[in-house]
Amino acid sequence: IYGYLKCGTFVKVGPQRYVLPAKFRRCAEYIYNMQVRPDDTWVITFPRSGTTWTQEMVWLLQNDLDFKTAKEVPLYERFPQLIVTAQIPDLAHYLIRANFMNLANFQGLDAAIRQPSWESIDHAPSPRFIKTHLPLSLLPPNLLDVAKVVYVARDPRDVAVSYYYLQKHIGKGIVRASFMEFWEAFRKDLLPFTPVVAHANEAWQKRNHKNLHFIFYEDLKKDLSLEVRSMCKFLGREYSDLKLSLLVDHLAFDNLKKNKTVNNNLHNDQKAQFIRKGEIGGWVEHFDDKMVVQAQEYLRTRLAKVDVRYPTIP
Ligand code: A3P
Repeated sequence: IYGYLKCGTFVKVGPQRYVLPAKFRRCAEYIYNMQVRPDDTWVITFPRSGTTWTQEMVWLLQNDLDFKTAKEVPLYERFPQLIVTAQIPDLAHYLIRANFMNLANFQGLDAAIRQPSWESIDHAPSPRFIKTHLPLSLLPPNLLDVAKVVYVARDPRDVAVSYYYLQKHIGKGIVRASFMEFWEAFRKDLLPFTPVVAHANEAWQKRNHKNLHFIFYEDLKKDLSLEVRSMCKFLGREYSDLKLSLLVDHLAFDNLKKNKTVNNNLHNDQKAQFIRKGEIGGWVEHFDDKMVVQAQEYLRTRLAKVDVRYPTIP
């Protein structure tokens, strides 16, 4: 850890720099040394890449398609997140300081986010289901050798738009930044968990590891049934076609959006829903000509340094 600016802690791993929630300074070592268990299942993503969707799929496949419990217990309790407590308030602090957000509306935001601490996740009974936005290099080094890990990636342009809307609507529209301003911060890798391409590339490099299942949001959209089957195989589970079709139906966008234990789990603001539009390529409506060129340049320079290839980026 070599610096600290506004909302984030800059962490340098080898040549790579990440922006992390400021609280990460307090738990970095703890998390790195956390005991991984063979019956753990982890879902790792850059925010807004299809995490929630994948978590619900993975939890149900690992729990005998127990739809009853899934409908009763919020996803954030069944499948808690490592260090979420920091993510939203820290970004809010950043936006306040950058004068993108109104301080008055920030009150109470912290209290609205009730997630378990890293210590309680560490001590939770098995089997554990753990969601995190931390890149692989900041997680326990033996993670893949011990536990099953799913990584989900998505076109960074759609991620940027989705990230913006989530922040904008948290706490009743307190973020004043326009998308253009938010995009500036995104493409300059100033937002928590950026840079997004390097984040995905870490997992991409390990995609042939037997305990890592690397998927794209766009493939989930293209053929959910196929992806459910391939996830089932990865997790070593077997279900009848009929049961799997019930799962595919449960995971369909309209059904998941209506599902109170999965969607809208941050607080009661209707607009601050985790499940928003669920589209591929919706970014085009938010980028003007200048931003399109910036995005091309951003992707060209980032992708030149890494191996990961996105299905929507030629
Ligand atoms: P949009 O904001 O583009 O709609 P995460 O869970 O990582 O925060 O990702 C959230 C994104 O996944 C949101 O994207 C959300 O709508 C989308 N999503 C969630 N469930 C989905 C589903 N069943 N089908 C399609 N997209 C889904």
